[in-house]
Amino acid sequence: VSDPIYDINKTYLENAEQGPFFSGVIPSRELSGQTYDFLGTKVNSRIGVFAGPLLNARWVKLAADLGYDTLVYKTIRSREHEGHPLPNIVYLDCPNPLDPGEKEPFLSRLDHTPQLESLAITNSFGMPSRSPAYLMKDIPEAENSLHRGQALIVSITGEDKQSFIEAALLAVRSGAKILEANFSCPNVSHAEGQLYLHSESCFQVAKAITGVIGERPLIVKVGAFCNAKDLLKVIIALKLAGVEAISGINTLPARPVPPLDLIRSSSGLCGAPIRSAGLEFISQARHILNHQGIPLTLIGGGGILLPEHFNEYFEAGADFAFTATGMMWNPLLAHHYHQMNPKRAYAHT
Ligand SMILES: Cc1cc2nc3c(=O)[nH]c(=O)nc-3n(C[C@H](O)[C@H](O)[C@H](O)COP(=O)(O)O)c2cc1C
Repeated sequence: VSDPIYDINKTYLENAEQGPFFSGVIPSRELSGQTYDFLGTKVNSRIGVFAGPLLNARWVKLAADLGYDTLVYKTIRSREHEGHPLPNIVYLDCPNPLDPGEKEPFLSRLDHTPQLESLAITNSFGMPSRSPAYLMKDIPEAENSLHRGQALIVSITGEDKQSFIEAALLAVRSGAKILEANFSCPNVSHAEGQLYLHSESCFQVAKAITGVIGERPLIVKVGAFCNAKDLLKVIIALKLAGVEAISGINTLPARPVPPLDLIRSSSGLCGAPIRSAGLEFISQARHILNHQGIPLTLIGGGGILLPEHFNEYFEAGADFAFTATGMMWNPLLAHHYHQMNPKRAYAHT
């Protein structure tokens, strides 16, 4: 595994200001000429970067240059927010796939980088966010760094319905053309469980956002579901609220040993061990969408570290497939994918 483009020993702000740490050569890209409809924008391929690795316009530019075509700007809040101190990322020993039903397993920390195939990290940032003034300057720069056939999505979050609305309005004022709401965060209505697991709260918050963003498409980001019935209810709620796409999965909770610090006993696991949970989410969601005749766009990911993993997601039913950990530790992943799949067709249309 090469050194990641994100330095895990530096703070989030140091990475934002000094990174990305990519020392390779940007490969040239030959476009196939085929395009795909991504929520109204024509894009060159069906692969992209999840919310997380793209901290600001410079990170977006690198990902765009490297051939990732649908790029999510790291989740923003309506106000500046500092986030958690170091450590924000540690390697974990988790050789087997993690079952989302398993309650926050204890996983030993590793002090070396594992092989790419078994790369597992935990990330704990507390969703930091830059000031509105910074974002209103930086998001347009990120938009300007895209190549033809690429799309930028701005991810938002909030602590309650009102702050989701304010974050959405800030994204719109910053020029966002497509928004993603991160619902894999604490439930804003009941302070209990995660928002994405409560269909009524999903409806209320999503409807509030679609009410203020005009014609711009809204994606909702979710975590893993333990049963298909809950997923069905959430899909119906999101569709009724005017959402155009569902994206998953977010990290699975795990407990690093030793813990990150005295306050953070649990944090989100990503990389190889969550791929099977991500694929299961996509299979179930695709089944529901097809069975119910619901035309939502389906974005899948979790544990995509090698080019063939994108295709596993397409075969499971994803329309688009995104990576976070894979882009950071294997930045040429998109290039290798394009070389292997010059014209990957849609499997479901
Ligand atoms: C460094 C890092 C930061 C992340 N930050 C966010 C975030 O701000 N918002 C969000 O919705 N998900 C965030 N995630 C979760 C990813 O979007 C993704 O759902 C998860 O990591 C699974 O994909 P992966 O296995 O390809 O990493 C982050 C992940 C990583 C690795």
